Amino acid sequence: MAADAERWRAPSSAGASSPDAPQAAPWLATSHNRQAPETNSPRALRRITGNSILDGKDRTVSPESYSSFQNEIYLQGLLTEQVPELTTDLQALEDTARQALSPSAYGYVAGGAGGGATVRANREALDRRRVVPRMLRDVGTRDLSRTVLGTRMPAPVALAPVGVLSIVHPDGELAVARAAAKAGLPMVLSTASSYTLEEVAEASGEGSSRWFQLYWPKDREVTVSMLQRAEAAGYHTLVITLDTWLLGWRPTDLDRAYLPFLQRTGIANYLSDPAFLAGLDKPVEEDPLAAVAHWADMFADPTKTWQDLAFIREHWSGPIVLKGVLHADDARRARDEGMDGIVVSNHGGRQVDGAVAALDALPEVVDAVGGELAVLFDSGVRTGADVVKALALGADSVLIGRTYAYGLASGGEEGVTHVLRCLLAELDLTVALSGHRSPDELGPDLLAG
Ligand code: GLV
Repeated sequence: MAADAERWRAPSSAGASSPDAPQAAPWLATSHNRQAPETNSPRALRRITGNSILDGKDRTVSPESYSSFQNEIYLQGLLTEQVPELTTDLQALEDTARQALSPSAYGYVAGGAGGGATVRANREALDRRRVVPRMLRDVGTRDLSRTVLGTRMPAPVALAPVGVLSIVHPDGELAVARAAAKAGLPMVLSTASSYTLEEVAEASGEGSSRWFQLYWPKDREVTVSMLQRAEAAGYHTLVITLDTWLLGWRPTDLDRAYLPFLQRTGIANYLSDPAFLAGLDKPVEEDPLAAVAHWADMFADPTKTWQDLAFIREHWSGPIVLKGVLHADDARRARDEGMDGIVVSNHGGRQVDGAVAALDALPEVVDAVGGELAVLFDSGVRTGADVVKALALGADSVLIGRTYAYGLASGGEEGVTHVLRCLLAELDLTVALSGHRSPDELGPDLLAG
């Protein structure tokens, strides 16, 4: 974790939702209720489930009860013969999402660069590492929380920036923001969101932890305007994506000639930006194509260099994190330029086909700057066990992307909450079953392979 992390103020109340349990579990009264004299009382149920909420609707995610989600599922099955609406196998959730989405939308989310070598490599690197569990170490009480760059996280997990989410579900980023806030996890909002950053901030509610991802526009006025809007809307940490100055070669989208931005989806932050609109000759409704062309012109700037970071520093007062770092020298350079953190990431294999698996790059980067910069990780992560592996290799926190997009596709906000509950339950169980009580106890010796 960054040595100077404490200089960043924690958000006023980033904690998870209230641990208070309801006095009764309404679903106990359904006609499907089986006879289960020992467990058929709210008190007995609370003992088994560890105080989690059992009404099947308010799926509050509480750190006190991450792993008790499984008890809840089994009990619900016992008493009402109900099974979870969505699979608890987060790798299999992709199939549900595929069925729910149009081929273009599914292709856009799931697709990678070129022949998909790096998408596969990300998974292969995670699968190759195997956890070596340790025994008899009193893991009865666990605390997964961490503070990263001043953000308290009840577990070291955050929601990665994923743009254009309205192609996945009409509620898009609003649903994701609500689910993340309920779980007390930070959401990194993409510049390419379908809803404006102000709308998403409002959906996430008081006390939510708001990070903003910047696709750094070519135009300086638009850059400054977006940064000012983000700060005004309560985003406190900035994540600058470095690996998408140009869009990677993506045959899945190219074969359909599908790029949602050109249909004005995923450019809400631009179309609502006064500095962007000032550059248009006519209002967007009168000449939508010109607006899209203006966006395409400024979306990114491949001429940027390390020196340009000073400009962002001038205009952003909170922590700055660089996303897309895969080489130790780049990590050192980020440190030398005064950055606060990095995300070791290959953009989920969407940019350079054949790029190194992000997990394979992680140890070298941690060796270079761990303890000086916050080192976050993404690319390929689907499950709680994957999170454990990245933490063991030195990540301070882990970002999930496609996994929650598949939850969104399958069930809107409830689907995202389902994904978070499954992931956090499996994370908690894997920490415990491998013989640990907190992420701080995980190290490379946990892994074989
Ligand atoms: C854009 O960032 C994308 O990965 O589609």
